Amino acid sequence: MTEPSPAFSPPPSFRVSRHPVVLHKVAVLRDEQTDPRTFRAVVRELSWLLGYEALADAHLRPRRVQTPLETADAHELTDRIGLVPILRAGLGMVDAMLELMPGAEVWHLGLFRDERTLRPIEYYNKLPDSATVDLCLILDPMLATGGSATAAIDVLKRWGATRIKLINLIAAPEGVAAVTTAHPDVTIHCAALDRALNDRGYILPGLGDAGDRQFGTGRRD
Ligand code: PRP
Ligand code: URA
Repeated sequence: MTEPSPAFSPPPSFRVSRHPVVLHKVAVLRDEQTDPRTFRAVVRELSWLLGYEALADAHLRPRRVQTPLETADAHELTDRIGLVPILRAGLGMVDAMLELMPGAEVWHLGLFRDERTLRPIEYYNKLPDSATVDLCLILDPMLATGGSATAAIDVLKRWGATRIKLINLIAAPEGVAAVTTAHPDVTIHCAALDRALNDRGYILPGLGDAGDRQFGTGRRD
């Protein structure tokens, strides 16, 4: 079974895409035969699609533009957007987001999960003293226990961020529950909600280690 038990009821702040193109691409990511080059390409494509969905409520202001024929009423985005990739697996999501939002700032945050305790350890943070953006999009392919995402949101809120969205490719019910309990104001967008975590904190069925699969590292049997 891929999906969580019917007893898990996702919170209103949780959005999982049902788009056929998203579903098709998630299958490619899950497949253990997918090589790192294809895996990176599909991470990028899914990121673009999820970013598009996550910006559905972005703020606009009216503007006028001159077409070759006449003047038209039009719009422009006003939000200053900050992309916050969680190193290292979130790096693969940045380029697609920058294609969608070329003016976005990119603030890297280094967190890794201690494999024994499953607690996140921060090792890189170059955020300036106070928030410089209106909307932060946290980018991380995997939401497992939710420890890394919760820690990232804590950091951004201490920084002064008020509008934060979390963009994941695959989420586990445990991670959705943890983030929503700690930060009910943060909307989560993902491409798939999976069944559960195993005893090592990996998402089932999941796709394995998202960092290793993108960068060709990890155990070779
Ligand atoms: C992975 C993933 C998330 C985290 C999710 O990173 O990219 O950041 O685990 O797990 P959690 O929800 O239980 O915190 P990892 O620690 O493997 O680091 P990496 O990106 O450097 O591979
Ligand atoms: N991090 C990953 O890369 N994969 C998982 O399944 C859980 C955490």
